[in-house]
Amino acid sequence: MIPPPPPPPAAHIFQPVLDRMPAPAHAPEAVALESALAAAHDVGHAIAVSSGTAALHTALVACGVTAGDEVLLPAATVMMVVAAVQAAHARPVFVESGALGSMDVTDLSAKIGPRTAAIIAVHLAGHCTGLSDVSDVAARHRIPLIEDACQAQGSRHRGRLAGTFGDVGCFSLKDGKIVAAGEGGYLLTDSAPIAERAAAYRTHWALPAAGIPAFTRLGRNYRLPELSAVLARHNLAGLEAALARRRAQAALLADLVGDVPGLCRIVPADGDEPNGYSAVWEITLPEPRAFAARLHQAGVPNSVGTFGLRAASAHPACQEMNPAACPAAEHAVDRLLAVLLLSVDTEQDLRERAEIIQREATTWNPLGGHPARPHPTASSFSTPTSSGTPSS
Ligand SMILES: Cc1ncc(COP(=O)(O)O)c(C=O)c1O
Repeated sequence: MIPPPPPPPAAHIFQPVLDRMPAPAHAPEAVALESALAAAHDVGHAIAVSSGTAALHTALVACGVTAGDEVLLPAATVMMVVAAVQAAHARPVFVESGALGSMDVTDLSAKIGPRTAAIIAVHLAGHCTGLSDVSDVAARHRIPLIEDACQAQGSRHRGRLAGTFGDVGCFSLKDGKIVAAGEGGYLLTDSAPIAERAAAYRTHWALPAAGIPAFTRLGRNYRLPELSAVLARHNLAGLEAALARRRAQAALLADLVGDVPGLCRIVPADGDEPNGYSAVWEITLPEPRAFAARLHQAGVPNSVGTFGLRAASAHPACQEMNPAACPAAEHAVDRLLAVLLLSVDTEQDLRERAEIIQREATTWNPLGGHPARPHPTASSFSTPTSSGTPSS
């Protein structure tokens, strides 16, 4: 049984905002959301912004990243993270990783150089594998750690909430996230100077920040609209119910698919408690990207087949950056099946998707002839080995 979704908002909760419009109201709803976010994560400060990408860009600026700096991030990432690094005029340096963003700490350490100004850890599908090892490396080298927890609201690593390990945690409120508001985002930090700089940058540097007077730098309008703040606060109150539902949906889909040749379920690494953002497998069938695309066509939305997820080091949009290859991450992402889940997905929806996955996997035969046999290797490829090297 999947627990029910949290109750939808009643229209009247938006009325106070509508009543105040169009007079400028100094964002009381965003301020109330920030207090609720800080309390829910037990951190000192939350800053509401207009998107997850804006949160990442703002975090980079607030951590002091400037033109010509290098930012280390996993090769297995979404393009929005690369876009944020580029918006900060920094150079992305991709690190070998598992398919869900777990960085190889040996490669990470090797790529730290005099221009390294920040590390971004990305928790794809809500998995935070190896996060404490990455955090240790960042601390040892005194490099700010930014977590992209956009897909990891409510996930835990070693008992601690995703987004609270780094100097800053960044989140998206886009539809489909565990706490959503249509669009939007937020940052979490325990550092007062980072919080001040982030708040100032978010609103055209109209606020003084950590010894920097107001209006002496250029910033952005990355403010979260007040109506979205109301919706986000309502949905944040339902976080535990939303988490319970998403985790149950992910577990049910995995159970319904069961043991299918050519699909190897990715189980959380020790100490990881994902939020159930997606149900995840490694595809060991031939032509895995084509298989993911086929599943999308057949009605199973997934990150490679639906959104063309590809390791950033091999992504066409990154080629002008001349990135170094990260073959392990590229191989792992090509074999990733991360099935997208939404709170509205019913048990019946999941049964239908499971049947499609089973049918397509057992009949997959991209090369003609007899149905192809899966490769014999099965691995938990999101899990780094003791040296931090992701197995693949
Ligand atoms: C891992 C990750 N990072 C960043 C983003 C960017 O968030 P937004 O779309 O709110 O800008 C997303 C959103 O989908 C995401 O999943």
